[in-house]
Amino acid sequence: MEGKRNARLDPRADVVVFGAVAFVVVFGLLIEHEAPDSYPIAFVLWVPAFAAGLLVKRLSLVLLGALAFLTFAALSDPEPAGEDLIPVMLGLLTGAALRLTRPQLRAGHGQASRLVVRAQQAVALPPPLRRLIDRPAIDAAIDLARLRLDLFPHGLYQPVASLPVTGTAKRADGCRSRWEAMRPFVIEHRVRTAVDVGANAGYFSLELAALGVPTTAIECDPALYRTALLAVRRSELDNVAVMALELRPDAMELLPPADAMLCLSVWHHLVRSNGLDAATAMLRDIWARTGKVLFFDTGEAEMPASFGLPAMVPDARAWLTGLLRGCCEGGEVRLLGLHDAFDAAGRSCRRHLFAVVRGV
Ligand SMILES: C[S@@+](CC[C@H](N)C(=O)[O-])C[C@H]1O[C@@H](n2cnc3c(N)ncnc32)[C@H](O)[C@@H]1O
Repeated sequence: MEGKRNARLDPRADVVVFGAVAFVVVFGLLIEHEAPDSYPIAFVLWVPAFAAGLLVKRLSLVLLGALAFLTFAALSDPEPAGEDLIPVMLGLLTGAALRLTRPQLRAGHGQASRLVVRAQQAVALPPPLRRLIDRPAIDAAIDLARLRLDLFPHGLYQPVASLPVTGTAKRADGCRSRWEAMRPFVIEHRVRTAVDVGANAGYFSLELAALGVPTTAIECDPALYRTALLAVRRSELDNVAVMALELRPDAMELLPPADAMLCLSVWHHLVRSNGLDAATAMLRDIWARTGKVLFFDTGEAEMPASFGLPAMVPDARAWLTGLLRGCCEGGEVRLLGLHDAFDAAGRSCRRHLFAVVRGV
């Protein structure tokens, strides 16, 4: 496999990088020779253009943008075109060229230029200096910045104690009261494994893990599974797995079986994404993988029509009890009370929480 990858090594990458470096060197020497006074300003123009070149998605956009810019400037005043536009053009081009050679951005199309690899090796710090760098502290600072970005603008939904977040989580009370209702079942039924579908920031997974129940937290939103990963790491619990997965009808085989399944406030998302029939079939599949107990709540009448939930008649409690009885063959449906939630507009409401217990 490795041999095959090397066989696809792209020699053009070397040419592009070599060309980019040569461009910059020749350009610097020219400016130095022809117009030493404009050397600093040329460099100042080149740096942001180079950064822009690294960020822009397609080389064609860079070329078009640079061409448009050059044409406009040359038409309005031919003088600065030579002095100010060339560094901008070169910056964009060298940035975009370097980006093209980055292996992670060219997945499946060869590997890094040998020149880039050698340059990386050349600038790698020697081991004694590496020991001076506090890598965990750097990681922690980056993680914190990433968390702030991930929580913006919606904030935290669940009250996850291990996260370095001040302020209240949006559904703090509703999470704590649901856990208080579920916990006795987990203990009484000697739950040994659990899966938390739509785990969000991992509140229930972490509570289960703290009780000694190894738990898989499944979450599809990158900002949320990153947050859950951070919460798990900071909790120092070693019995939680975070699975980045959007559960869909064609991905049900990936759902691990477990004693306890948590399907909390996620079924309405499944209905919205897959339609009522498919989401109902998914609930059957979830039950098929449940060894002992399924915990379930969902958006009810408070959800907007866009979710595609049916009218829950005669009332939500009766309709959901019927849904669970229909999907969970051999299970006994028990109501675990009403718990705080909020609707799409942020208005507070309450939702029924159910436990479906197998074989009682
Ligand atoms: C309303 S939140 C509920 C979070 C948590 N289960 C609770 O009750 O506190 C729904 C969560 O499910 C996630 N989600 C929605 N559809 C999903 C899917 N198909 N697969 C995995 N996660 C999903 C969302 O990203 C979100 O974090």
